[in-house]
Amino acid sequence: MTHLEEIIRSETELVVLDDAPAWREFHERVLRRAGFGLVNSYPAQPSLLFDHLNNARGRKADLVVFGVQPNSEFSWENLRLIRGFFQGPVLATMERMDADARARILDLGVHDFVSVGDCGEEGLELKVETAITAYRINTLIDENDQRTQRIFLNIMTVMVKILENKDPYTRFHSHSVAIWSRMIGRRRGLTEEDLIRLGLAAVFHDFGKIGIPEEILNKPSRLTDEEFAIMKQHPTIARDLLSSLDLMHDLLPAITHHHERWDGRGYPAGLKSDQIPLWGRIICIADAYDTMASRRTYKEPMPPERVLEELHKGRGTQFDPELVDILVQILAEKAAESAEKEKNGNGNGNGNHHALSDGNGNQPAPNPHLA
Ligand SMILES: [Fe+2]
Repeated sequence: MTHLEEIIRSETELVVLDDAPAWREFHERVLRRAGFGLVNSYPAQPSLLFDHLNNARGRKADLVVFGVQPNSEFSWENLRLIRGFFQGPVLATMERMDADARARILDLGVHDFVSVGDCGEEGLELKVETAITAYRINTLIDENDQRTQRIFLNIMTVMVKILENKDPYTRFHSHSVAIWSRMIGRRRGLTEEDLIRLGLAAVFHDFGKIGIPEEILNKPSRLTDEEFAIMKQHPTIARDLLSSLDLMHDLLPAITHHHERWDGRGYPAGLKSDQIPLWGRIICIADAYDTMASRRTYKEPMPPERVLEELHKGRGTQFDPELVDILVQILAEKAAESAEKEKNGNGNGNGNHHALSDGNGNQPAPNPHLA
């Protein structure tokens, strides 16, 4: 059984594969200086890695760092071949990585990647360490039962709560978005299994805000264009941070695309209508609804009539029209329910249609993804 020990850099063996001698030297220099024990580097040929791993001196590779030459089909083919026989973690590096290259890397089953020109030497060093750690976590979860998965997901959920706790008005936001997403998803016909995963994606939808400066996150006034451009990076930051974890793979499309708009004017990819993953469309409307109906540092909660107005306004522009109809229906039922309770003298008296339950009349469970 694998144990998740602390990574001792000096005991870690890395193999750098890169066809460009200058980049090979760069990687080697940065990683040696960062204290990684044995750094071997070769041109990016599968046979050289194969020989390295199968020689008599018992060499290993705790991580293969593969420098992709994006314009060379040989380079892509070599990465594919390596992924085919090397079971350990592979980190794909590139000087500047665009969305197409990232998609291609992911398609090859490589979930760790870094754009060295953007993140610099420190970013590379950090990514090497997190790639090795993520691989160990994945192996540990694979080898164990569901209990390990739950422990891990609970730790991740606590991280989201810590993040949200920085702002008292977003303290329960991810939790609420998960519950609304599940309610909408249930009416949309998702299976129970999908609802659990959707709830999890919703819990982590804003995980990328971990990489956004606090003064932007908690700014009480309107963001400048520059600040908004930084804020808009949070879905892709989440995708890049979570892509190393096998347990999160099926959640990434929803997390990455929860700010797309039905009319294609959203971000990060400008996807439109059903190009946007369904879970992303559901989280989008649940997120917008919860934000409108709740207090924030910069605004009071919107009255229910205004929220409905906004939902109708966004029908077919911001939101999937079918999901607007579903949410409006749920809200109407909840309003009727509380009116009925009030008539019978046991309502809470505030007519609050934002009160949460999981759609079966139950209060939210402490962990929506486990409920
Ligand atoms: Fe978001």
